[in-house]
Amino acid sequence: TALPPIRSVAQPRFFGAALNSTFLFNDPIYTKLAETQFSIFTPENEMKWEVIHPFPNVYNFTPADELVKFSHTVNARMRGHNFVWGSQLAPWVNDSLTATEMDIILKEHITTIMDHYKKDNIYAWDIVNEIVSDTLNVSTFKQILWTQKLGEEVVAKAFTYARAANPSVKLYINDYSIEGLGPKSDALFGIVQGMMKDKIPIDGVGFQCHFGLGQVPATLQQNLQRFADLGLDVAITELDINTGSTSPTDAMFAQQAQDYLSVVSACAAVKRCVSVTTWGIMDNHSWIVGKDVLPWTGTGEAKPAATAIVQAF
Ligand code: XIL
Repeated sequence: TALPPIRSVAQPRFFGAALNSTFLFNDPIYTKLAETQFSIFTPENEMKWEVIHPFPNVYNFTPADELVKFSHTVNARMRGHNFVWGSQLAPWVNDSLTATEMDIILKEHITTIMDHYKKDNIYAWDIVNEIVSDTLNVSTFKQILWTQKLGEEVVAKAFTYARAANPSVKLYINDYSIEGLGPKSDALFGIVQGMMKDKIPIDGVGFQCHFGLGQVPATLQQNLQRFADLGLDVAITELDINTGSTSPTDAMFAQQAQDYLSVVSACAAVKRCVSVTTWGIMDNHSWIVGKDVLPWTGTGEAKPAATAIVQAF
C-alpha cells in the first residue's frame, strides 16, 4: 500500500532533504519525490563557498537559485548551508590572507548571500558548520583556516553579520558527533551557552545524524531536549544511515528502518525540534556511494526506512 506524502504526516514539523542540482530535473524519479515528499530543502553543495563564491568578487548564484526557485514552486522552504566551514572553501581564501582581510571577506560573503536570498523562502541558515574539535584535549574549536586566523571569535562574528543581514531568519550552528550526550556534545553545549550569555544571535542547533547501522545514540532525545531547554530550536539536519554493505540483507534494511525510526521519534518527542532532513533522497544519488543509506531506492521505491519515518512522525 502506498505511503502518504511524508511532508504531510510530518506536520507541524518540516520533512526535508539535501537537494542536488545535478539530479533535479535530470532524474525524473528524483524530481517527483522532491516535489511530493518534502517541505524543506538544503542545497547539498550549491551554497558552499567554493561553488557560490569561487573567486574574489565573483558570485555564482545560478545552481543555488535553481534549487530555491524549485522550492517556491513546490511550496517548500530552504535551509541555507553554510558560511563558516573547514571544507569546500574557495582556493582564493587561504593562508596568504591576514586576519583583517579574512574578517572583511567573511562579512561581505555572508551579507551578499543573505541579501541575495532575503526575499526568498529561506527558513534557516547554517552559519557555522562543524566547528567543534574532535580532539578536545587539544582545543574546543577545530583548527580550520577561520579559527587559525580569527580565533574562536569567528563564531560570534559570523552570527552577528548574519543577524545584521536578516533580522528574521533562523540562525543555526550545525555539527556531527554531538547527537548523543558526551564530551563533544558538552563542548558544543558550552559554546552555545557562552553565545547566549554574550547575546550572540543564535536561534538553533543542527544535529547532522550521519550514523552507521545500530549506531543511533540512546541519549539523542535527551540531548536534543537539553539544547531546547536553553530556549533554542533544534533540528535533524543531515540524516542518513549507512548499512555498511554494498549488498545489504533484508535484516540490514530492517535495522536501518529501526534507526530512522529512532531518530525521527526523538525529534517528534521534542517540542522545539522543528525539522528532520535526510542527506539526499535516493540511494543511488547519496554522497555515501553504494551503501544504500537513504529512505528510497535508486528506482524510487520507498524502503522500510520510509515506512518507519511515517510511523515515527
Ligand atoms: C557533502 C556532500 O554531500 C558531498 O556531495 C560533498 O562532496 C561533500 O559534502 N557534513 C556537511 C555536508 O555539513 O555539507 C556534507 O555534504 C556532508 C557532511
